[in-house]
Amino acid sequence: MMKGLSILLVDDEPLMRLSMVDALEAVGYDVYAAGSGTEGVEAIWKHTFDLVITDLRLPGADGLAVLKAAKDKSPDTDVIVITAHGSVETAVGAMKLGAVDYLTKPFQMDELLLIVERVARVVTLRRENQDLKATLEDKFSFNGILGANSRMRGVLDKIKLVAATDSTVLILGESGTGKELVANAVHQNSPRRDQPLIKVSCAALPETLLEAELFGHEKGAFTGALRQRRGRFELAHRGTLFLDEIGELSPVVQVKLLRVLQERKFERVGGNDTIDADVRLVCATQKDLRKEVAQGRFREDLYYRLNVVQVIVPPLRERQEDILVIAEHVLDACSGKLNKKLKGFSPPARELLLRYSYPGNVRELVNMVERAVALGHERGSIRPEDLCGFQSCPYLGGIPQESCGFCSEGLTGGKKKADGPLTTLAEAREVFEKDYIVSVLERVDGSRTTGAKILGLSRKALWEKCKRYGIPSPYDDGQEEEGS
Ligand SMILES: Nc1ncnc2c1ncn2[C@@H]1O[C@H](COP(=O)(O)OP(=O)(O)OP(=O)(O)O)[C@@H](O)[C@H]1O
Ligand SMILES: [Mg+2]
Repeated sequence: MMKGLSILLVDDEPLMRLSMVDALEAVGYDVYAAGSGTEGVEAIWKHTFDLVITDLRLPGADGLAVLKAAKDKSPDTDVIVITAHGSVETAVGAMKLGAVDYLTKPFQMDELLLIVERVARVVTLRRENQDLKATLEDKFSFNGILGANSRMRGVLDKIKLVAATDSTVLILGESGTGKELVANAVHQNSPRRDQPLIKVSCAALPETLLEAELFGHEKGAFTGALRQRRGRFELAHRGTLFLDEIGELSPVVQVKLLRVLQERKFERVGGNDTIDADVRLVCATQKDLRKEVAQGRFREDLYYRLNVVQVIVPPLRERQEDILVIAEHVLDACSGKLNKKLKGFSPPARELLLRYSYPGNVRELVNMVERAVALGHERGSIRPEDLCGFQSCPYLGGIPQESCGFCSEGLTGGKKKADGPLTTLAEAREVFEKDYIVSVLERVDGSRTTGAKILGLSRKALWEKCKRYGIPSPYDDGQEEEGS
């Protein structure tokens, strides 16, 4: 028996209703009784129930209306319908609309309790699963940054430490790795959190406009400067200034920025008044700044001023542990928004997610999962083809096409691999063999019997290869291997 299962019972026959309430309460369920469909629908809108048991034939709103209201309010609410003897078709119709089970009148109270017990077990599991997910997310999340990988845990620890100080932070990482999230987290956890966080992309503006944008300008400072304007440094006073794509700064602006960092003072463009800058600076770039310094494109003195605390956000391909944590978080958020009842990723889809190299990093993963949820099925699991979104994906066994960026560019063993380190023929053959076996097994929905036939192998030989290459058991179709 599950503690705290809340049940709404809708039946217009008082005697029947009373006996059911008694039977359910006697075993400890929490029961709310309603004598008509309308009363039942109202109760659904006022409270949240784990389970609704409703007679189908009711005065006012009928049982199907109660079922619909329950599912609309919360798709997780289970509904059991009660039908009169001989109207099983109606019950089947109700199940198509989302009821989990039905009871045919007359029934014994034991039958009712058995069905309710079964639903209670599923509800318990669902709750445990949700709790576990919440705990995992709590454990792996910090200010919206999910990270289970040890290097990412290190990044998050460093953010917590550095946030408390006023030191300048330089965030380095490829595009889409989460640099802006890191900058947000530094500000949100700093003593300046109640003051503004001002963001400027140094790549978005030409040199002269960027200078005015950062430091402001006086009226008449240049053509078009019709009035005095405060710059981002002033707007960020007592707060944080996030300078994104700092590697794009022109030499002139680099000099001006260096002065602000040295003297904590600046003047507006065209102005003489010196303004104090009480600003915490956070910068980010995808560029290798040391290389920029070596090649004379970035001032060395400025580099040292900016590089007080360095936070390196690793590319997603180097933190595999984060892939599924992020993917599942996005899947939950998106399916919630789109009201889809998706169960997660199928094992081959998970494998695909883990094998991809994500040149666009987390941004690409987020977009990929959002697209899969939006365009895929309403319920069930996300399949590899939902992620790829490309009919002739070679990974899925179709005809290789140039235009399938996901497969031909990103997957290990795909086009990119050809540019990678040169290996022996035996090693190359193994990579191909593993990929090909996985793709065949996926196309035959994991059946090793069919897969073995296509590959021209015995089931045992296929089993041995799967074991050798670590191709996971979800591909197993449950039959024993010959001789194994
Ligand atoms: N660790 C993470 N957990 C959850 N979401 C993340 C994580 N890292 C990045 N994202 C998401 O990925 C997307 C890209 O992140 P962000 O804009 O911070 O990257 P960036 O490094 O600043 O990219 P760019 O260099 O292109 O500006 C955003 O939607 C962000 O919410
Ligand atoms: Mg960014």
